[in-house]
Amino acid sequence: MASDRQLRLHITADALDRDPHPVFEAMQSAPPAVWVEDLGMWLVVGYKHVEAILRNTEDFVTGTPGSLIFDTFGEHMLTAEGAQHERFKSRFRGAFSPARIRASMAQKVDACSQMLLDGLSSGGKADFRKAYASRLPVLSILSLFDMPLEEEPKLRLWYDGFERALSNFAWREDVRARAHGYVGEFHALVRRHIARVRAAPDDSLLSEVVNDESDDRLDDAEICRNASIIFFGGISTVEAVILNCLYALCTHPDALADVRRDLDLIPQAIEETLRWLSPVQSATRHVVRDLSLGESTFRAGDIVNCMIGAANRDPRVFEDPGAFRPCRTNVRKHLGFALGPHFCLGSNLARLEAATAIRHILERCPGLHLSADHPTEIRGFEFRQPTALHLEWRT
Ligand code: HEM
Repeated sequence: MASDRQLRLHITADALDRDPHPVFEAMQSAPPAVWVEDLGMWLVVGYKHVEAILRNTEDFVTGTPGSLIFDTFGEHMLTAEGAQHERFKSRFRGAFSPARIRASMAQKVDACSQMLLDGLSSGGKADFRKAYASRLPVLSILSLFDMPLEEEPKLRLWYDGFERALSNFAWREDVRARAHGYVGEFHALVRRHIARVRAAPDDSLLSEVVNDESDDRLDDAEICRNASIIFFGGISTVEAVILNCLYALCTHPDALADVRRDLDLIPQAIEETLRWLSPVQSATRHVVRDLSLGESTFRAGDIVNCMIGAANRDPRVFEDPGAFRPCRTNVRKHLGFALGPHFCLGSNLARLEAATAIRHILERCPGLHLSADHPTEIRGFEFRQPTALHLEWRT
């Protein structure tokens, strides 16, 4: 390791997994990047520097052919840059606009959410991760692609295989082989639906992409690869924002009372959740050439992890950053959906699902509170959410 790696801290992956916030708070006054030996990568925690890196897609790229995400899913919008990235993303952007998502998805998400809540036990207690939050995003994404909801167990199985593959830092062959098998099965499902909308075009998102007549339209393999990141980018992330928001409200009774009094505050509570307990805590980038950022020097091939969750608690941008305050004036300045060219494609769908979930749960569960029998454990420094969320309410 070169001697100019300005600051090295002995931070373990386990410590970050349990509670990254004290570590990151201490790092806010350090140089832009800190080398963490245990992870073999740089961490960047300041808002200004995270923003600079995410906007600079020439020097800091999302995926290299040697990265786990590329190995699992191949080339798609989150592993491409420049013109190719724009070519992929532009085909889907229209369908994910706020107005189109509201028009195409509001009723469907509403129905899926009510169906899951109908299935809760009548005893006034449930693990909302298992019974609700892990399921709503899967049902929603199937609805968005007009696929039968009966595919839910298969999607969940595939997703769990992909999650293992994306954290397969030891490059175990069995984990890779299983994920590649699941990718093949997923592509076969998408290809069946491509054939359906090619034969009978409709007004769905898939039909729009498949029946695109422009010169540089996506071929079927490109549609399948981009569908994989769209499908699987919106599952545990939405699950986490729902759980994190419920957790935030249940641990902040004043905020919960305000939101119960005025349900129009739900969107703000969701934005503040994305800042205070960011579901996606990091965005990984690969350095293309030797370069400096402030006092930090990177070499081509280095991995830089932009810690979105830490930037969202940068005291230079957010006053009293450790406090959960849905009414803070700059509540939407968070980086929970990243920023720059790779800004989350599904942010409007995520916001719709989360707002629907919180509204329905508050309406149907009076006196909602954390269960004293099952203490909540929040884990993860790349994706962060409760391992389970046991809640109780008055029946
Ligand atoms: C609260 C829920 C969500 C959060 C917190 C979230 C967060 C993010 C973040 C931080 C990125 C940037 C990653 C990077 O730059 O390395 C991203 C990208 C992306 N997200 Fe989301 N996401 C959420 C929901 C969704 C949903 C529902 C979908 C799709 C239905 C989705 C699809 C995507 C896609 C396709 C990209 C790649 C965009 C690109 O490369 O241009 N996400 N998301």
